[in-house]
Amino acid sequence: MIMLTGIRSTGIPHLGNILGVIIPSINMSNKKKNSSFIFIADLHALVDVKNIKIIKDSVYQIASTWLAFGLNVDNCFFYRQSDISEVTELAWYFSCFFSYKRLTLSHSFKEKIKNNFIKKISLGLFSYPILMAADILLYDAEIIPVGKDQIQHIEISRKIAKFFNHKINKNLFTIPNAFLKKTTMLIPGLDGKKMSKSKNNLINIFSTNEILKKQILSINTDNKSLKDKKNPYKDYIISLYRLLAPTDKVKEMENNYIKGGYGYLDAKISLYECIIHKFSKEREKFFYYMDNKKLLDNILFIGAKKAKIIAKKKLNIIRKYLNFNTLFYI
Ligand code: TRP
Repeated sequence: MIMLTGIRSTGIPHLGNILGVIIPSINMSNKKKNSSFIFIADLHALVDVKNIKIIKDSVYQIASTWLAFGLNVDNCFFYRQSDISEVTELAWYFSCFFSYKRLTLSHSFKEKIKNNFIKKISLGLFSYPILMAADILLYDAEIIPVGKDQIQHIEISRKIAKFFNHKINKNLFTIPNAFLKKTTMLIPGLDGKKMSKSKNNLINIFSTNEILKKQILSINTDNKSLKDKKNPYKDYIISLYRLLAPTDKVKEMENNYIKGGYGYLDAKISLYECIIHKFSKEREKFFYYMDNKKLLDNILFIGAKKAKIIAKKKLNIIRKYLNFNTLFYI
């Protein structure tokens, strides 16, 4: 089974990305050689970020994160989306067949028109799900680890795949499935809402100790005092701690909450120390890669070369169905 996932290069990966997508995807990619496609979605980033420098920095930060968490690049396809231009060609074919009306129902589009003037919305934003379908269907991917907010996009990819298969009466495209890790589906951010870049409520484990501490100290709580008993199922500090700490430590914190005489500040300090301790190796490796951009470029280039072979083959099959010439490369 082919697994594929992408992260948009619009910033630094946060704890939600790491627990929800990066770690589970690395575990899957270790199971079978060359069955995983992991890419950095810089073309998708361009929809929101117009400053190429920010996109480029973020590409390096995302690449460093995957590598710091132990992605074995010899075992998988690890590349920049923009290095495989075949994907934009496939997106064009899809956009010639997929219904305009259906795309206006996409939540990424609806969300944006709620808050923006329609005049400001680019065609790129509108066809975001089409490019995402091309990312997935170009490599016959079946399992797509993503956050909950991406489910509708995977649904559109499934629709496109089925539509084409039906149209040409062949199983040209594999039908993809979203993979959601239940325990990490809703990682709370600093305000208790789902951790996400757009909500500005991130925990960035690669910040300096001081900033990380500041982020954690700013987690919202109710206003119970130190001596009050607290509910261990209604608080975000312990929800985050539960995702990271060993079970006996979590039990200990739960008991402290129930007993009282244990403040949210104590819990925050434990959470901070847990993060520092748990990710000390990854934090160190992250900065090693960030200091070696040439190495990162090289790794991504080799990954793109490998992925391009597969992409080209598939695109040629599609071109054949459309009665276009097959691609030739000089
Ligand atoms: N849209 C995804 C996000 O914002 C990133 C992405 C682009 C993606 N193409 C993909 C994820 C294909 C999975 C598969 O998180």
